[in-house]
Amino acid sequence: MAKKIKQIAIYGKGGIGKSTTTSNLSAALAEMGLKVMQFGCDPKSDSTNTLRSGKFIPTVLDTLREQSAVKARDVIYEGFNGIYCVEAGGPAPGVGCAGRGIITAVELFKQQRVFQELDLDVVIFDVLGDVVCGGFAVPIREGIAEHVFTVSSSDFMSIYASNNLFKGIIKYSNSGGALLGGVIANSMGPPYSREIIDDFVTKTGTGVMEYIPRSISVTQSELQGKTTIEALPRSAQAEVYRSLAKKIAAHETSKAPAPLEVSALREWAGLWADRLLALEQGKVSEGAAI
Ligand SMILES: Nc1ncnc2c1ncn2[C@@H]1O[C@H](COP(=O)(O)OP(=O)(O)O)[C@@H](O)[C@H]1O
Ligand SMILES: [Mg+2]
Repeated sequence: MAKKIKQIAIYGKGGIGKSTTTSNLSAALAEMGLKVMQFGCDPKSDSTNTLRSGKFIPTVLDTLREQSAVKARDVIYEGFNGIYCVEAGGPAPGVGCAGRGIITAVELFKQQRVFQELDLDVVIFDVLGDVVCGGFAVPIREGIAEHVFTVSSSDFMSIYASNNLFKGIIKYSNSGGALLGGVIANSMGPPYSREIIDDFVTKTGTGVMEYIPRSISVTQSELQGKTTIEALPRSAQAEVYRSLAKKIAAHETSKAPAPLEVSALREWAGLWADRLLALEQGKVSEGAAI
């Protein structure tokens, strides 16, 4: 019997650290001996850069524009530790649906049974924050990915984007869509960042997969065009990504999140804003019981 390929989708607000986290996750999974494909779905097409020394790869959409018949193998590029890198690409800015790249790329790969042929263990779709367009919902809607994770910091806009993703998941879950694996808490460090995320996951019936500190080692590695796993393999940050990779490799059961209504979410954020203000004004000391 063919082995089961673990298909994962990572969502989150733009600039929150999806590609950074995904690339380090891919690198750590590859280190564990797994065969990994990272599938960039952002029209920015920069998902896999740090797996390939900072170099961009031609996207599926660009390649299709140049050649009429494209073989899936033509758009797969090898990166760090043999990771297969793909960028779906996007239309020219302002023209057409930004999610078309994903729809086209997924279709091409499905027809040609690429995942099976490459004997992959894990495919990670690095998607986008706001599930505003049908294309971006493809990995969750069509049951392609059964494990969905969201990257979020403690900033309200990123929590808002995660809450929107939860709504998208609920919408498709009855028709065989994906459920939520958990929240990857990124850029931890500022006061109350853990407490805010912990409170959000409790309120939405979800959980935190890993707390990833905000770290200068990520910036240093990125400037070398590398993941932290590759550039600083012995750093504490690399260990955090390895810990995340182990949890995700072992992750079995996802569940339905319970998104908050927008009004409830705003009210919740208001309470935290009051606490942060009190902290700033010295009315409470950091780390005080909440
Ligand atoms: N844990 C972290 N510590 C420090 N910098 C980070 C961390 N996570 C992400 N970044 C930085 O944030 C920026 C945006 O990250 P990126 O992964 O490209 O976001 P996204 O893919 O969500 O748009 C990058 O410059 C990246 O180096
Ligand atoms: Mg990205």
